[in-house]
Amino acid sequence: MAPMWRLPTLAAALALLLAAPAGRAADEANGRGRELWGFCQQCHGADGGGTPLYLAPSIAGLPTWYVERELRNFHEGIRGTHFDDVSGMRMRPMALWLRTDADIVAVAGYVASLPPVKPAPVLAGGSAAAGAALYAPCIACHGADGRGNEQLGAPPLTHASDWYMLTQLQHFKQGVRGSDPRDVKGALMVPMAKLLPDEQAMKNVIAYITTLEP
Ligand code: HEC
Ligand code: HEC
Repeated sequence: MAPMWRLPTLAAALALLLAAPAGRAADEANGRGRELWGFCQQCHGADGGGTPLYLAPSIAGLPTWYVERELRNFHEGIRGTHFDDVSGMRMRPMALWLRTDADIVAVAGYVASLPPVKPAPVLAGGSAAAGAALYAPCIACHGADGRGNEQLGAPPLTHASDWYMLTQLQHFKQGVRGSDPRDVKGALMVPMAKLLPDEQAMKNVIAYITTLEP
């Protein structure tokens, strides 16, 4: 785990903003979103494919509605404030750094415009064959193809980092994520994570999810 002093500082962020960083610009991406992305990419990677060392997941291509909601959740302390949420507490100050809702909308639009990146798997010991049956109850919200469902608020999982999904399933199960009374969408996931009896079951369902191609 990286010591705190190695994480990007606000000063570094400001320097990056002044230096007008070169992000991978998708056609429709707005200038402000790209400018803000210069800060985010220090942890999430220039292509948005994530950096396990910083516990920062792959986020490139996630839909705007999901990115906006999660940024607002971090901002309002609905996510990333639980005492045991080590990774969420790293992200929360970054969302607070986005001062206005217009900036949240701008950077979310930019994240959504990035081509999705499928991160290399890092978890060992999961069985996709065993995970297929465990994925059956997930289909109702995340879809058979893992592409998610905006009406139900369930994000796509097809480009999520496998190590990140394991942490999130553990966090939902333990109430580290999704237990804030205001977290209406996170609350939907808590009972689902509890369906997975142990870490092996989680690794199996994740191994199955990583076989899904949109
Ligand atoms: C200091 C490193 C760091 C920086 C800088 C950073 N993030 Fe994060 N981000 C993280 C970590 C760590 C997580 C995982 C949080 C968790 O485990 O709950 C995360 C999670 C997220 C998520 C949730 C992903 C999901 O699938 O739910 C989004 C969205 C996100 N970051 C967007 C951004 C944006 C936009 C910026 C720039 C304004 C940014 N991040 C800057 C570390 C960082
Ligand atoms: C009732 C609908 C529903 C079902 C069924 C469901 N999920 Fe979810 N899931 C959600 C919602 C909503 C979220 C977003 C929660 C939030 O905003 O914090 C989510 C989030 C997640 C995340 C975190 C994604 C991210 O980017 O942070 C993972 C991983 C996940 N679900 C896996 C599963 C698995 C595996 C199953 C089956 C065992 C499952 N889900 C079943 C609704 C559901």
